[in-house]
Amino acid sequence: MRSIQLFQVTENRQIARDTYLLELEGDTAGLSHPGQFVNVDIPGFYLRRPLSVCAWGPGHLTLMYKILGQGTDALGHVSPAETLDVLSGLGNGFSIPEGVSSPLVVGGGIGVAPLLALTEALVKAGTKPSVIFGFGSEDEVALVEEIEALGVSVSITTVDGTAGTPGFVTTAMMQADATWDYVYACGPTPMLKAVFAAAGAPGQYSMEERMACGFGACMGCVLETKEGFQRVCKEGPVFYSEDLPW
Ligand SMILES: Cc1cc2nc3c(=O)[nH]c(=O)nc-3n(C[C@H](O)[C@H](O)[C@H](O)COP(=O)(O)OP(=O)(O)OC[C@H]3O[C@@H](n4cnc5c(N)ncnc54)[C@H](O)[C@@H]3O)c2cc1C
Ligand code: FES
Repeated sequence: MRSIQLFQVTENRQIARDTYLLELEGDTAGLSHPGQFVNVDIPGFYLRRPLSVCAWGPGHLTLMYKILGQGTDALGHVSPAETLDVLSGLGNGFSIPEGVSSPLVVGGGIGVAPLLALTEALVKAGTKPSVIFGFGSEDEVALVEEIEALGVSVSITTVDGTAGTPGFVTTAMMQADATWDYVYACGPTPMLKAVFAAAGAPGQYSMEERMACGFGACMGCVLETKEGFQRVCKEGPVFYSEDLPW
């Protein structure tokens, strides 16, 4: 359930190039599914900025963000003990359909953010996930240790070949020995389309659009799907592969 909450910053730490982990304390009761997001009011900015929930527990929320523009740059200067106004519990999130046993989890760039909580949920549900993360370069690699702490190994690809397999996440998908019965993906739209084309299995894809309200009121984030026009913030951000128009 969505609600505005004040969260106290406990840590705001750089973990990779232009990439930060933001630890917050506050009421997380509105969160129920990995892949949901929050809309953060950054002091000095009129519009909130949507950020995926990376991990959460009672009273504790972890966000991971990349500095792209003025809003995320300002977020990088927020200090511990400051408070942030956060609209929480947004979006539908990922679900785990019955019968899924060997899912593939694919993340690209900052799109890896919601996949820590997803992988944890997949492990808890008794599945054996394979994880492929793609980045531009070695200095952008993030969240790998946290996923491996769940007992799941991560295949890394980098476009410039400085870490893991040179190339894209689809390169690692083609080279993998494993077969998957379900695919979860989050990342830039060109990556999602390539994963969708290579997947060979049904799945769920987390989409991004520029957002204003974040809860379905402004129609600013509409995406055309096979089900018609859908709001990424409300009906999404996670869409089933069969509904995507590609
Ligand atoms: C559901 C959802 C979840 C997200 N989760 C995360 C996350 O976990 N971590 C994270 O770092 N970012 C995430 N984003 C993207 C994040 O919201 C934007 O990077 C942020 O709003 C940029 O704000 P800014 O003021 O720094 O940049 P702006 O000045 O607003 O824009 C700077 C650059 O970023 C691009 N940009 C801005 N917003 C988006 C967007 N929504 N999608 C694609 N490009 C955008 C602009 O086109 C521009 O090139 C998410 C977006 C959505 C919709
Ligand atoms: S951002 Fe307002 S409807 Fe989606």
